[in-house]
Amino acid sequence: MSMSINSQNGITIRRAHLSDIPYLLKICRKCFSRIQWRGVSSYVRPWWQAAITSEAADVCVAQYKGRVIAFAVLVKDEELWRKQKKRGEGPFMSHLLSCIVCPVLTFKALCIKVARLMVGNEDQLQSSIGMSYKRTWLEILAVMPREQGRGIAKLLLCECESLTKNEGCDAIRLMVTKSNKRAIRLYKKMGYQKTTENSEGEFYMKVLNSGCQVGIVSNSEN
Ligand SMILES: CC(C)(COP(=O)(O)OP(=O)(O)OC[C@H]1O[C@@H](n2cnc3c(N)ncnc32)[C@H](O)[C@@H]1OP(=O)(O)O)[C@@H](O)C(=O)NCCC(=O)NCCS
Repeated sequence: MSMSINSQNGITIRRAHLSDIPYLLKICRKCFSRIQWRGVSSYVRPWWQAAITSEAADVCVAQYKGRVIAFAVLVKDEELWRKQKKRGEGPFMSHLLSCIVCPVLTFKALCIKVARLMVGNEDQLQSSIGMSYKRTWLEILAVMPREQGRGIAKLLLCECESLTKNEGCDAIRLMVTKSNKRAIRLYKKMGYQKTTENSEGEFYMKVLNSGCQVGIVSNSEN
């Protein structure tokens, strides 16, 4: 994969390594409430190992002063990604352990899975929207809370856009939960347009016409 090493104000955007996983787990714990991201590391770690080594996706990270402070996962081959995700749902013991350690979050995750099964084909319908474009899928994006508001997410989005173009694709799609106003504002600012929505969230797409340029605000605390 060709990924630019993009440096701005001390922030480097690069491809993730397996050694970044402890940072990625920390960012997830700080940014997300779902068990899928907050559970015991034996449950979450294999997901990251699979994502970083997968041919179906690119994991980009933002590094600042030697620490990984943000990441984006861009899926290039949705079919292969879905198959790998199914295989990597984790061993029974990990699920059991999650139930014991975080019963409330595990219950919430179960409810989400049941809701997904109920909407079933609706999800497939969503993926058919914008079918005329060859597109990638932004699976997840997060910035460490103390580093937010500096333009790091915009920088990662730009990297995902250039990776999308390098893949010969002309659009990016993503899904965001309706209550995530901050992320919605970010995507709209970056030119993403809402295509549809379902019970899980809103779907956005950006057709990539021109290049992407953003600036970084320096962090006075560091
Ligand atoms: C959403 C998120 C990725 C934005 O990261 P970020 O690095 O703070 O974003 P940026 O600094 O690049 O800001 C981009 C835009 O986001 C919006 N934004 C950023 N911080 C914001 C804040 N505190 N309040 C409202 N909007 C905000 C603004 O529109 C901003 O543009 P502007 O600075 O020109 O006004 C970050 O808040 C995050 O990690 N949230 C938790 C994980 C998550 O929800 N991920 C997205 C769904 S997968």
